[in-house]
Amino acid sequence: MTALSGKNVVLIVSGGIAAYKSVEVCRRMVDMGAHVAPIMTSDAEHFIGKTTLSALASEPVRTTLWDDADPIPHTRLAQRADLIVVAPATARLIGSYAAGISSDMAVATLIATRAPVLVCPAMHTEMWEHAAVADNIATLRRRGVSILEPSVGRLAGGDVGAGRLADPERIVAEVERLLSPADLSGLHVVISTGGTREPIDAVRVIANRSSGKQGIALAREAVARGAKVTLVSTVDVESQPALDVVDVETAEEMREAMVRYASGADVIVMAAAVADVRPARVADGKLKKNPATGQIEGLSAIDLEPTTDILAELGASRKSGQTLVGFAAETSDLVANATSKLQRKGVDLIVANDVSKPGVGFGHGTNAVTLVASDGRTREVALADKRSIAGEILDEVVRIRGSRAN
Ligand code: CTP
Repeated sequence: MTALSGKNVVLIVSGGIAAYKSVEVCRRMVDMGAHVAPIMTSDAEHFIGKTTLSALASEPVRTTLWDDADPIPHTRLAQRADLIVVAPATARLIGSYAAGISSDMAVATLIATRAPVLVCPAMHTEMWEHAAVADNIATLRRRGVSILEPSVGRLAGGDVGAGRLADPERIVAEVERLLSPADLSGLHVVISTGGTREPIDAVRVIANRSSGKQGIALAREAVARGAKVTLVSTVDVESQPALDVVDVETAEEMREAMVRYASGADVIVMAAAVADVRPARVADGKLKKNPATGQIEGLSAIDLEPTTDILAELGASRKSGQTLVGFAAETSDLVANATSKLQRKGVDLIVANDVSKPGVGFGHGTNAVTLVASDGRTREVALADKRSIAGEILDEVVRIRGSRAN
């Protein structure tokens, strides 16, 4: 399940060069389980073919109020919609919408709906900065319409400036946010993800197989549910509004970052696979091979020392009202091991997974977990994509916080 599963989304495409990006927005929303009903203005047809959108959307594209057996297609679509997204939105469409002039199928549908609306403008900088457009945007904002501001970048004709349509992934992230419960709104969530790398010498590290996917899914889900998220990560992650990424590599760097951000956090999730040990000494430069023996001196035996258990440290020093979540990768006795970890490290919730099972944990796009809470509740979540698992984990966090507040 995603925030888009089973949701009716109307995608309105108006006539700008960026119309081609709406195809990607459409495909992603359909992939996430939405029923996408597309509408194109007649100007949009100059930029993309109707066939393209019709083939990728959940139903054929509509362009006019008049060519359908249905005499009132705009009200039917508008009433059924859970959300309407306009991408790209031209100055003309924004103006008609703000003025309430239902001159075509697109604006008629916008005016006939009570669903949330997301407008993603795209136009030349001069147009975007024109007082008429600025006033119309302010009017729409005042009426509760969400505006995803255009970004600064290369525009049609080679100019560079503000007015570029937001990237499809940002548009879809905003759609997800608008369709998700805002149950983490106002909270600061700090999450660690990825596997730490501990240096042996200038080029070699001790690493693990963690892909960071579960922590990234948690971060994106928390943002969709209204949180401000800090993601402390060993893997590359694209930041997005309300998501700050802090790059780290070693367990010690991760510890420093987590301790720094934990003081202001409401929810902390240690999803990272932190190395339990690291080389006691890091060799200067690169350890070289002895040509006579083929051995790399200093590599046949490495002295290891323990790293700090970050989760336990956060558990010991946490402030009241903070919710602390840990992970447990196990191969046997899942609940018993998770329960003892929960008590030992002083956390509220352990997300335990049996990494010996197919499709579970490290490197996979899917996961199956058992949620073990300190209030005695245990819940199994069957194999699902990591984003859905993230939703289940955050549901449990919301439950724990709610029961504590009562
Ligand atoms: N963890 C941590 N710091 C470490 C090691 C682990 O914060 N140095 C966190 C992980 O991010 C995870 C949890 O502790 O949230 C559980 O890690 P795991 O390796 O499963 O547990 P261990 O305590 O190392 O126990 P064991 O390896 O014996 O199962």
